[in-house]
Amino acid sequence: MKKTWWKEAVVYQVYPRSFKDSNGDGIGDLKGVMQKLDYLVELGIDVIWICPMYKSPNIDNGYDISDFQDIMEEMGTMDDFDRLLDGVHKRGMKLILDLVLNHTSDEHPWFIESRSSRDNPKRDWYIWREEPTNWESIFSGPAWTFDETTRQYYLHLYAEKQPDVNWENPELRRALYDMTTWWLDKGVDGFRLDAISHIKKDYSNMPNPKGRGYVPAWEKMTDVEGILGFLKELRDKTFAKYDVMTVGEANGVTTDEIDEWIGEEHGVMDMLFQFETWYLRKPDEPCGVNVDALKGVLTRWQEAAQGISWNALYVENHDRSRIVSTWGDDTVYWRESATAVGFMYFFMQGTPFIYQGQEIGMTNAPFEDLVLYHDVKTLNFYRYKKAEGIEHEAIMQMIKMNSRDHSRTPMQWQGEGYGGFSTSKPWLDLNPNYTWLNVEAQRQNPLSVFNLYKQMIALRKNKEVLVYGAYKLFKTWYACVYAYTREDKKEKVLVLSNLKDELCAWSPPEGAVLLLCNYGAEDPYSLRPYEARVYQLEK
Ligand code: GLC
Ligand code: CA
Repeated sequence: MKKTWWKEAVVYQVYPRSFKDSNGDGIGDLKGVMQKLDYLVELGIDVIWICPMYKSPNIDNGYDISDFQDIMEEMGTMDDFDRLLDGVHKRGMKLILDLVLNHTSDEHPWFIESRSSRDNPKRDWYIWREEPTNWESIFSGPAWTFDETTRQYYLHLYAEKQPDVNWENPELRRALYDMTTWWLDKGVDGFRLDAISHIKKDYSNMPNPKGRGYVPAWEKMTDVEGILGFLKELRDKTFAKYDVMTVGEANGVTTDEIDEWIGEEHGVMDMLFQFETWYLRKPDEPCGVNVDALKGVLTRWQEAAQGISWNALYVENHDRSRIVSTWGDDTVYWRESATAVGFMYFFMQGTPFIYQGQEIGMTNAPFEDLVLYHDVKTLNFYRYKKAEGIEHEAIMQMIKMNSRDHSRTPMQWQGEGYGGFSTSKPWLDLNPNYTWLNVEAQRQNPLSVFNLYKQMIALRKNKEVLVYGAYKLFKTWYACVYAYTREDKKEKVLVLSNLKDELCAWSPPEGAVLLLCNYGAEDPYSLRPYEARVYQLEK
């Protein structure tokens, strides 16, 4: 397997709106990110992925772009961006952007032209139809909206204000490649490719919606036959010519397709985010993960990629609720479970991604009232469920578990003054636990989530086997213990993570040396609730 800088890197995802506000308007911005670069150095980060900061009317927090080559006013200016890129590079880190190629804002000049008349030269840059299909949008409700001006429907897999571009049109594709190359020439170090498995659609056998309601026509809009042709072209015309990293948000892509999508020889990008682990929460329990199912899914990805490709390792991002509140236990074993989940995924083969706040164990927000939620997906979900006749309480229950806002509350830097995020009331309320759950408090405690993440990063950096070594599931007697080894010619390491509040009898193998543990003193006979350890084994 080829050695590359991005395989050895640890990536940190910044959601700039919620990271750090530099000018006191309650909204995070680019200068705010700049102010926190030394924090990321302290943590040991190599690459920053920044979520969209482009010009945008902001109905989906920047994922609705009205100018790909300009900066959203609230975020700052292009000068600020250039300074940020420079600041990142000066500190020896890299910066990757979120590249949104499936749709634009309806306020993008391309769409304004496209919707202006049926014979506009850019008409075909978007997807217009006389008759819509019965497809449901990923953000609830119909995926087609009727446009009065030209009396046709346009397609939007996401919100109404996010029309999908038409990848079948070569001119549109060229415009996207030119824009991508413009950023590469500016010196960015790669991209996270947003919604990339949706860029091709299958319009065959399109059922008409009349009288049938909307259906999630997943197979018609995800990883559709022929998509790889588009992605090969994208790769060849843009990033293939640069030493950059690419990671695709590739919902629906399976382990059978690893070679074509991300194979070292033929792949159209370097890594992808799989979605299979999203659905492994125990259904009838408030929290906790089905550990057996988790072992099955992650081991399948590890084995399928082994020797031919590379995984993107992650447990959180801006679209999921907080991991300690879903797979862990955010009450009694908050600290232990946040770190046990961390150990579990972080040492697998692949490039680890950490989402802002994950490194201090931030939790879901306890927001009861709908007015405290902001996310367009959440609000649409509420509206459509209500229209289906589902009761307010039941919908709120789902939102309290799954809303994307849980991961978007402002970063908790300190225990007073709006959590050190801003000097005025933030755009989205802070999680009230910022008074005790924050970076400053955790710097003091050697066993804090923050300090354990720091040590995890340092350990991976110092042990090549944790980067390139082979992964193998390690059997223990307990279903709730996720254990695996990493091995190369020289070394062997064992990672153990107890993902339940059970005491598990366990003794280390002969000659094992403890490298890292999320509890203080070692217990030679058992793994305590949510205890996690890393051992050097004899070879
Ligand atoms: C991706 C993003 C999500 C966004 C959507 C539409 O799934 O991660 O935040 O809402 O694409 O761009
Ligand atoms: Ca601001």
